[in-house]
Formats: sequence, structure tokens, C-alpha cells
Amino acid sequence: MDRIKILPAKGLNGEIKVPGDKSVSHRALILGSIAEGETRVEGLLEGADTIATISAFRAMGVGFEKTGDTLIISGMGLSGLREPEDVIDARNSGTTARLLTGLLSGQNFFSVITGDASLRKRPMRRVVEPLQSMGASIFGRKDSSRLPLAISPRTLTGISYRTPVASAQLKSAILLAGLYASGSTSVTESEKSRDHTERMLPLFGAEVKIEGNTVTINRARELSAATITVPGDISSAAFLMVGAVITPESHIVIRDVGVNPTRTGIIRILERMGAKVELLNKKTVSGEPVADISVKSSPLNGVLIKGEELLAAIDEFPVICVAAALSKGRTIISGAAELRVKESDRISAMADALKNLGVSCTEKEDGLVIDGIEKGTFKSASIDCRGDHRVAMSLAVAALRSEEGIEVKGAKAVDVSFPGFFTILEKACRR
Ligand code: S3P
Repeated sequence: MDRIKILPAKGLNGEIKVPGDKSVSHRALILGSIAEGETRVEGLLEGADTIATISAFRAMGVGFEKTGDTLIISGMGLSGLREPEDVIDARNSGTTARLLTGLLSGQNFFSVITGDASLRKRPMRRVVEPLQSMGASIFGRKDSSRLPLAISPRTLTGISYRTPVASAQLKSAILLAGLYASGSTSVTESEKSRDHTERMLPLFGAEVKIEGNTVTINRARELSAATITVPGDISSAAFLMVGAVITPESHIVIRDVGVNPTRTGIIRILERMGAKVELLNKKTVSGEPVADISVKSSPLNGVLIKGEELLAAIDEFPVICVAAALSKGRTIISGAAELRVKESDRISAMADALKNLGVSCTEKEDGLVIDGIEKGTFKSASIDCRGDHRVAMSLAVAALRSEEGIEVKGAKAVDVSFPGFFTILEKACRR
């Protein structure tokens, strides 16, 4: 059955490895597919989201072969992709849908892209509008603001674009279209979203210029194959980090995690709350900072979370709510309206979940106010994760400090980003 009960734990201990970073994996798959020659990707996330990206490129003629821990991509070159025979299904993956909309806008064939019920509700106008202003032909449901989107071949022209929301998916969609556009294409953000695309593009030979929060790319003549090692996903590590912080006498070390500053908001926030987090063995791998993360249990205090720090922890909101609920005092999370259009409405999902667990919180249009129960434990409950992988994993982490456990309904959703999550969590638990 698609439900699982997680029991309270006395502590979390040991050395842990988490699966590859989802964002970096998508980008390696996309750039490898349009490069000339064989790209080798080590440590790729094999979750439902990245499998959706692989299936999309297979349908456009790209070959993928796995040998050991390495995925070999037989790239087709910038103009070598073939028209897919059917609709491309991005399933639950916003990154697949939005980045591919940019890439497909520059192809010389027709394509249609869709997704599952959750993805078909998510806003696409943010990518469609700038791509149309580059000359792209994109039509879709609800005045071209929702999937499915149909894309016809057009000649693209570079633009200078200031994004209305700080979104790496939006920035990346425009940069990928920019590879095919005449002249240069620039994207400026008010706050810097995750920068994996602009870090990886030069490894494939693309010319990228970064000035402050502006990224500029020139039309590319060719991309050449690269070897990419994908770091562990800090967004997956975050669940174990919070699990260790909130259960007494815990000490875990998570090996080889990506610690790109546009992603480490969770570390900064937990430290401000009073957690003991240490980065060990720092190095750079495939243009990305990587480290081992050591986390010990500690009491937490409520904090104010907003702005760039929150943006660098945007996917960690559900698990931050769990930490906040077990803190002393009040945590205020604001300026996070984007959370309403993620895999689920995460503000509403977490507000309802916390209330079910006996925590007092107030939902705001753009955030959540949580009054921590400090030394207390969550009430036992059975909660539906609303099809959202990160809500499911956050509930599992909350269960570690619950009266008699929490049942997570829809637990299979974790496969989207962290296959094996429940096994890894169970192994680390002391009971
Ligand atoms: C992602 C960007 C973020 C993030 C998502 C992955 C990416 O979304 O929430 O999980 O890989 O570019 P937005 O671009 O919508 O902020």
C-alpha cells in the first residue's frame, strides 16, 4: 500500500550518502543530449523526475547507457534532436517541463509537452512570455499559461530579460533558448536563483558571462561532450539534517553533498536557529562546491526567514516547518508566495499537517507563522502528502519526534527525488 508509518526515534547516527542532486542531474542530461559526442555522468539521480527527462530525450533520438555508476549519453549535437513521435510527458517534473520548453523553442521540429495533474496546474506563462518575445511559437491551455504546450519551429532572436520571479527554471529555459538565438541573450534576476545551469554550460564549451545577477549567453555553434560528477542533493540531505537536529543524541555525517551557496539556505537557517552544522572536506567537483555535512542534535529557536536566504532554501520549506514547530518561540516565514505553486500548495499542505500534529500556526498568503512546541512531541496522525515528495519526507522526519509515530499517505511520491529515502532513514534511526 502507498502508506507507511514512521515510528519515533531515540536518535539518528552514522555516515549517510544521499542520491545525486536533482537540478544538476537534469542539466547534465539536457546539455549531454545536445552536445557532440559521449557525455559521462557519474552519480546521476535516478528519480522519477530525471527519468522523465531521460524519456523525453530518448523520444528525440538520444541514446543513454548505464555502466556501473556512470551514465553515458550519446549526444546528438545542437541541431541533431529528432521530432518526437508522441507528446513529451514531463510527469511531475517542473524542471523538465520548463527547461524543455526553452530548449524545444529553438528546434526545427514540432513538439508538445505535458505533465501529470499536478504539473498541468502549475504556471507556465513565466517561461512562455519571454520565449515568445524571442520569436518562439508556443500555444497552450488557458491562454498558453498551462501545459500541454505545443511548440512549432521558429527563428529565435536574443533578448535582455528581467524576470518577474527569481526562478532557476525560468532563467534556465531562456538560457537554453539563447543557445539557438541570434546575438546574445541576458537574464537578470532581482535575487539570484540557483546557478547550476550557468556553472555547467561552460563545461560543455558554451560562452557564458555572469555579472552580478545577470547571466548572458551567446548563440552556440556547438557544445562538446563533458564528464560530469553530480554531487549529493542538499535538498535530500536536508531531511536527514533536520531529523538529526530534532532527535536527541544524534550525530550524522552526510558525504559529498553539493553546497552551492544558492542552495545552502537550509544550513544558514538551521545555524541561526541554533543547530550544530559543520562542513568538512570541502572541494569543487564539476564546477560545484561539495562537502561532507556533519549535523548534531541541538535545541532550536524560532527565527524570521525571508529573502535570498529563503530562496536558497525554497525546496526545504516543508522540512524547515518541522524544525520550526519544535523550536522555542515563533518562526515567521514570509515572501514565499512561490510555495503555493510547487508540486503542491506547500504553505497550505504544511499548515494543515502541522495543525494535525498539534502545532499552532497561521497561514499567510506568502508564508507561515509557526509557534514552536519546543521540547514537546508531535501528536500521532495519519496525513496525506498531497502527492508531494517533499511533504511526504517532511512528515516522516516529524514522526521521529512524535508520540507514537506518523502515517504518511501517498508515500510513494518520495521516488520523485529520493528513491530509497525510507530505507536510508530507517538505517540511521536508533530506537
Ligand atoms: C529548480 C528550481 C526551483 C526548485 C525546483 C528545481 C531547478 O524551482 O524549486 O525544485 O532545477 O531549476 P523554480 O525555478 O520554480 O523556483
